[in-house]
Amino acid sequence: MDFKARIERSLERSLALADEHTPPRLVSALRHSVFPGGARIRPQLCLAVAGACGDDEPGLSEAAACAIELLHCASLVHDDLPCFDDAALRRGRLSVHKAYGERLAVLAGDALIVLSFQVLALAAAMRPQRLGPIVCSIGASAGLPTGIVAGQAWECEPRVSLLEYQRQKTGSLFVAATVAGAQAAGADPTPWRRLGERLGEAYQIADDIRDVASDPAQLGKPVGQDKALGRPNACEELGFAQAVRYFDRLMDEAVESIPECPGAAHFRALVQSESARLVPAEVARLAA
Ligand code: IPE
Ligand code: IPE
Ligand code: MG
Ligand code: MG
Repeated sequence: MDFKARIERSLERSLALADEHTPPRLVSALRHSVFPGGARIRPQLCLAVAGACGDDEPGLSEAAACAIELLHCASLVHDDLPCFDDAALRRGRLSVHKAYGERLAVLAGDALIVLSFQVLALAAAMRPQRLGPIVCSIGASAGLPTGIVAGQAWECEPRVSLLEYQRQKTGSLFVAATVAGAQAAGADPTPWRRLGERLGEAYQIADDIRDVASDPAQLGKPVGQDKALGRPNACEELGFAQAVRYFDRLMDEAVESIPECPGAAHFRALVQSESARLVPAEVARLAA
């Protein structure tokens, strides 16, 4: 089964933890938050690293990938709330608070965060000794000291470092994807950390570039938000051309960081093709 099918199956199973006693509108809001997905890039990365490390316990790598995507979906639901970015559109349709109201959006995000750790706990029986390190990596990427929560909280400080902000709010979950992928396969995660760091940072720079150079129909979410909300944006701080060059450098470093492993060449090609998807040639040309 390919990565995408494994991811969708484990996400479906995770939401099946809701039952006939769960309030139906909460269940609908949860489904709206998770399906249909976006690029599912983080769980694919997690499974790809697990695969490169032998993936001897596929149920555990799937649980890690699923937990990471659930956290990502939760972060989007909360990020779109009026008290954060106040976005009406996500993945080409109404954001969760627009469709279900703010209270259910807060609760759906909360439930997804908790669910991600329930999913991990349910997979623990497979290799109990691997669970602790996986929970620590994924927990750190979501919360403290420098996970998504910390990253979003920089928006409430009088001064923000672009690098810290982006590494925490976005980079951290990419690091969790590579590290937990290796841990789920019983491998040393250290050689995979840099790939997560470089890809994660590049991903947010690309998001900043698209925020100034794309259109909502193409992205399925609003553009021009960073300027409107006064959020740090790489194009604002570095200039557009410099931001595109920085993105290219990070992606080159990501490719170079891939450790020698079975399928390394395929892995490098995947990262390279992702680069073209994130900053398409017509956008890169604007920087020339
Ligand atoms: C959007 O992430 C938010 C950022 C951290 C940049 P994605 O671009 O991965 O969103 P989906 O999951 O594909 O919708
Ligand atoms: C990423 O930042 C948000 C997180 C969910 C942590 P943005 O606010 O720039 O992401 P988008 O543009 O809304 O997807
Ligand atoms: Mg935001
Ligand atoms: Mg946002």
